[in-house]
Amino acid sequence: MTSLTVYHGRMPRRPHSVDSKTRRQFGVHYTSEVNIKKLIGPLFLDDLRAEFAGIKDSRDLLRDFHRKLCTLTFFDPACGRGDFLVVVLRELRLLEREVLGAIEPEARPESRVSVDQFFGIEIDADAARAVREALLLIHFAHRTFPWSSEVEGAAAVHCVIIGLGAQEVSHKTIYEYAKIGGEPRAIAASRINPYLVDADDVLISRRAKPLCDVPVLWEGVHALDTGILSSFTEDERRAFVAREPQARRWFRECLTGSDLIHGVKR
Ligand SMILES: C[S@@+](CC[C@H](N)C(=O)[O-])C[C@H]1O[C@@H](n2cnc3c(N)ncnc32)[C@H](O)[C@@H]1O
Repeated sequence: MTSLTVYHGRMPRRPHSVDSKTRRQFGVHYTSEVNIKKLIGPLFLDDLRAEFAGIKDSRDLLRDFHRKLCTLTFFDPACGRGDFLVVVLRELRLLEREVLGAIEPEARPESRVSVDQFFGIEIDADAARAVREALLLIHFAHRTFPWSSEVEGAAAVHCVIIGLGAQEVSHKTIYEYAKIGGEPRAIAASRINPYLVDADDVLISRRAKPLCDVPVLWEGVHALDTGILSSFTEDERRAFVAREPQARRWFRECLTGSDLIHGVKR
């Protein structure tokens, strides 16, 4: 169902980023949203908005206008990451929402402006995949992967990506990382649940009572030393060991999950 035509194989594969020679050779420079709007306004969007403003009082004309919005087609012959196509799709859907609101103010009908109205050609397979994800396969999820940044000393962050779509589609994709930091494997899915698994929405909820007939847990993870040992801070440990060097071997690091995340040492 993808309307996007992709040619690839001629452009050198690039593991992380486009080098400046390839960038120059293939014209890999993407247009900013501000500049895209400068173009699509005079090209067609301003006319559509003017037409809408002129027919706001006639439901029949609004219905015809809505049908027209759903038949327009858009083509970017060197679509890069799809920036143009994505902005046009969004603007068209915003206009459609206003039109539907003018036809039936109380109703919330589904959008009929479809990604099938959008076409593109792109030589770079990575960029073409990005277009599909942005435009076509917005029903997708990447399971946990490390966020890499070229900034020196960047924080270690792990993310998931969840692509939400306004319309139901039959084909969804889950990207699975066998090795954290490795390449993802795309798995076709019929649904994506909140744990990013192709399964029913079975949610594990918080509960304080045991599921079966077992003694109630009366204490969670807790150091049972009234704080005498576990409350030593790093500075206190150093001061203590300076006074009592033979005590050094008896100190052990003791961390809770929260300490680990917030860099607390004790
Ligand atoms: C200047 S960018 C424009 C991308 C997009 N239209 C935008 O404005 O953001 C040009 C794109 O054309 C692609 N390209 C270069 N030669 C191509 C070719 N022969 N066929 C298809 N795409 C090509 C490049 O990979 C690059 O992504």
